[in-house]
Amino acid sequence: MTTEELRQAYIEFFKLNQHKQISGFSLIPENDPTVLFTTAGMHPLVPYLMGAEHPCGKRLCNWQKCVRTGDIDEVGDSQHLTFFEMLGNWSLGDYFKDQAIEMSYQFLTDSSWLGINPDKLFITLFQGDQVAPRDEQSAELWIKQGIEQGHIFFLGKKDNWWGPAGKTGPCGPDTEMFYDTGLPFCSANCQPGCPCGKYVEIWNDVFMEYDKQSNGSYAELSQKNVDTGMGLERTSATLNGYSSVYQIDKFQPIIEVIEKLSKRKFMENKEDTVSMRVIADHIRAAVFIMGDPLGVPPSNLDQGYIVRRLIRRAMRHAMQLEINDQLGDSLTDLIIELNPVYPELSERRNFILESFREEEQRFKKTLNRGLTELKKILPQVLQSKQKVISGRVAFKLYDTYGFPLEMTEELAKEHGVEVDQEGFTRAFEKHQEKSRSGSELRFKGGLADASEQTRKLHTATHLLHQALRMVLGEHVQQKGSNITPERLRFDFSHPQPMTKQEIEQVEKIVNEVIQKDLPISCDLMTLDEAENKGAIALFVDKYSQQVKVYSVGDFSKEVCGGPHVDRTGELGRFSIIKEQSSSAGVRRIKAILSSE
Ligand code: SER
Repeated sequence: MTTEELRQAYIEFFKLNQHKQISGFSLIPENDPTVLFTTAGMHPLVPYLMGAEHPCGKRLCNWQKCVRTGDIDEVGDSQHLTFFEMLGNWSLGDYFKDQAIEMSYQFLTDSSWLGINPDKLFITLFQGDQVAPRDEQSAELWIKQGIEQGHIFFLGKKDNWWGPAGKTGPCGPDTEMFYDTGLPFCSANCQPGCPCGKYVEIWNDVFMEYDKQSNGSYAELSQKNVDTGMGLERTSATLNGYSSVYQIDKFQPIIEVIEKLSKRKFMENKEDTVSMRVIADHIRAAVFIMGDPLGVPPSNLDQGYIVRRLIRRAMRHAMQLEINDQLGDSLTDLIIELNPVYPELSERRNFILESFREEEQRFKKTLNRGLTELKKILPQVLQSKQKVISGRVAFKLYDTYGFPLEMTEELAKEHGVEVDQEGFTRAFEKHQEKSRSGSELRFKGGLADASEQTRKLHTATHLLHQALRMVLGEHVQQKGSNITPERLRFDFSHPQPMTKQEIEQVEKIVNEVIQKDLPISCDLMTLDEAENKGAIALFVDKYSQQVKVYSVGDFSKEVCGGPHVDRTGELGRFSIIKEQSSSAGVRRIKAILSSE
């Protein structure tokens, strides 16, 4: 069964079961500044899960493009994808556990549908807590269908509860369906839910009957819903007996191009295989984000920053494979061709290609600047006795020029010198301590991408935001932000033009904070904690367990992905160069930083 056939079968099955097909939504949520990307099919359906009437009725099905950025570091293994598709069916206060499980079992095992051998299927269920009971009811329903008792496992909230973490909204226990790949147990504790790859999760039925309140308690929803999600790529791989999603028809042609460009073979050695997977995943995700109707080009903020990280990380891996070709040029048309159900991609083809070209060019320039710096340092190192590039210097290359450590090492090796790796790690950790957060490590790629100047302007944006709220009022909310190395641009809600006095007052407040040389710190916490501490929380992924909160002394607190400078004193002088209208009720400020 091809991936497209699987998609069609799913929709057909649920249509036969009285579901109306609805179209998927944009990858970039509209009118919802609290999340960067659509992370699941249920996400745009929240109002209907809460009780609003859906124009298409109470039974719906569709396919939905999703991006999950929490997993970026896992990409490279056999199953994790940044961009993936989810097939879904919903009951909006219609059927509940009984029919949901019956339909799931039928679609998975019936020979006219997927025809999976029930012996290969494993089920997990919620083990219960003070909010919801152990889901014995669903266990019985599965057994009634034909699943053996020994194939059913009860797990905790981490595994078998779905809902917006830390935020309010519909949620509930779920039942997940796993396929046993036949791989050996990784340990005595290996069971469904274990990440080793033996059991692959293919489908999830969520029984949404609770509404998480802002005080953390759970109320019953006015209706009982079902929200299901089947991973298209994983299920396609499973049906074809592949151990990895990269073997399916949506990926194989991409991998073949990468094999040709690199003149290397997929699955021959681990390192190359990981690099090939990262390139395939990241470039595909970047094409989909830029190719969305609301798509954005690479930038230093929000969705644009994710695109930038994806492209640059893919480029790093391409260098490791000694690929000199442009990745965007080599893969965009192929990815468009492989995904005919998304016509927006071909409509935005030129934009995607142009954005890729610019970004690849820009990153190459960044790397060249680092290379020039490195060449300046080399003669001195060669003359010294130890012939070692110090960790401090390697870190500066990394931090200021975005020059990756591995490249410093490679070049050093060519000249017969070494790099003090431990020193680099120490310098790196010292930098982490300053920002008081281990989480930055996860953003290693991101940190390398942001130049010192954009980082400064990003910190200045936080100061501006807070100063505007102090001068104009708490109604001021960020509506958009864009940073280039030259200037910041900040859009915010405010009904009328600012007066000259207001502009001066805002500048004065920001410059006073700069002069105080306040430290900037970063803490990890749940979104609830962040909001309780009064942090401004816009543009956050409400499905992530923890958020980063950047504080500028006592002056401002904001949920933000970073990166920022260490102290406000580094910023220089802040001036507003323009204040104008952006759209109805939204003002736009452009501001710069200059050295005094
Ligand atoms: N929302 C659930 C998931 O993403 C089911 O669709 O797994």
